[in-house]
Parts: sequence; structure tokens; C-alpha cells
Amino acid sequence: MTQRMIFIESPIFAREPELKSGGLSGLFPRPAPLALEIGCGIGDFIVQEAARRPEWNFVAIDIFNKGCLKTCSRVEKAGLTNVRVLRAEARWLLNHFVPREGLQAVYINCPDPWPKKRHRGRRLVSRTFLELLRCYLAPGAHFWFATDFRDYAEMVAEILPDVEGYLPQSSSPFTTDLGDYPVSKYMRRFLDAGQPIYLFHYRRAKQLSPDMLEPPGLEPGFRLRWLARENRRNRPRRQQGE
Ligand SMILES: C[S@@+](CC[C@H](N)C(=O)[O-])C[C@H]1O[C@@H](n2cnc3c(N)ncnc32)[C@H](O)[C@@H]1O
Repeated sequence: MTQRMIFIESPIFAREPELKSGGLSGLFPRPAPLALEIGCGIGDFIVQEAARRPEWNFVAIDIFNKGCLKTCSRVEKAGLTNVRVLRAEARWLLNHFVPREGLQAVYINCPDPWPKKRHRGRRLVSRTFLELLRCYLAPGAHFWFATDFRDYAEMVAEILPDVEGYLPQSSSPFTTDLGDYPVSKYMRRFLDAGQPIYLFHYRRAKQLSPDMLEPPGLEPGFRLRWLARENRRNRPRRQQGE
């Protein structure tokens, strides 16, 4: 899959060199609790969540260039100053630029479901991913995961209780009652079609043993290889030293 790259000029769009100098928190003028949305799509969710939590800083990431562009323009239109957008792969970003226990909340809404059995290994939320993410969640941090795909919900409901350090916030692993949780574009599409969204809300345990804060090595997932190739191909000429 090759994307047509549109150069994003928005002041809220961040690039890797900025991350290298100050990490995610360095992208913001003020220190504040930091939250991450993974796979922000076109930004509907982050605009709502950042507006209702002005005291937090938000980073919205997606590997989809056009989605980042649209997210930037929505955030700008909404006049929000507490959001930055990055074109990044989730595991790569966590591994390279997020301090251990640095995130107060992580949101993943309607990630690609990979419905075919042989493609399940491509799903973002897996045991290894949850073990990786755990290292970057602050004690008591929120983990939100919403999916429209029942099989994905069941898979995560089976895995999560086995991954130490995640505490459920309700008696069942997930709910279809969204309460005041903001609705993303994909969530809206399924809800309007009369289909449920399965919402998980967990919090990281206050105390973890030191070995649980050791990130597992990055698996060379196909998204990682693909994004590395894309980034090399699309680097502006001046960065390629030409
Ligand atoms: C089905 S869309 C959902 C978009 C949005 N969350 C919503 O609910 O409307 C999934 C999004 O996740 C992004 N994505 C998939 N894998 C990703 C990864 N490993 N890291 C970051 N973004 C990813 C895709 O590019 C896509 O925009």
C-alpha cells in the first residue's frame, strides 16, 4: 500500500526531529498529563476528548498521511492548543519516544479488524502489544479500547485478564454502553447502522514489578517494515542530503 503524500504544514503536526529533542512532552508549551490516541483516523475523537479535558496534553497518531492532515485541520478549526499530531506507527513511537510510565491515558478506537483468521496476527492489540503498552502507562493510567468487531472484542477479552497490570473498571470485560465516551467516525458509522461498539476500560495497576516495566523487543510486524520504507521514500529531499 503506497500513500499519496501531501505535505502537512500545520503548526500542530510534529516530526521526528522535534521528538528527538524533547520527546512527546517537549511538543507542548506547558507541562500537563499526557494522553495518546493510536490510529486517530480523521480526528473526530481527539477533537471531542481534548475539548473536554483542556487540562491534558494529547498526541494523536496515525500511519495514514491524509488522516493526519485532516486531523490537523479539525484540531485547528476547533481552536484546540492541547493537541499534537504525528504520523507514526504505535509500537515504534512507544519504543522510541515515550518515557516509561509517561502516559496518563491511551485510546484505541476501531483499529483495523483483520477479519480473516489467517490475518489475526496483524491486529494491533495483542498480548505482546499490551505488555509493551503497560511499560508506558503511568500508575493508574486509563486504557480505552473500542472495537466494532465482535471477534476482536472476544480475543482481547480473553487476553487482557492474563496480562498482569491491567485492572478492569467494570464487572464485565467490555460494555456496549458508551456513556459519555466520545464517538469516532468509525464508531458513528457502526452505531448508525444499528451495530454495537464494544468498549473496554482498564486502568494500569499502581504498582508493577520492575520486570513488567521492561518492554518486550519490537517484533518486526509488517506495519513497521512498511512504514520504515515509506518514510525513507518520502523524506523531503533536503533531509536526504540531496
Ligand atoms: C479503521 S481506522 C479507525 C480510525 C478512527 N480511530 C475511527 O475510529 O474513526 C484505523 C486507523 O488506524 C490506523 N492504524 C492502523 N495501524 C496502526 C498502527 N500500527 N499505528 C498507528 N496507526 C495505525 C489506520 O491508518 C487507520 O487510520
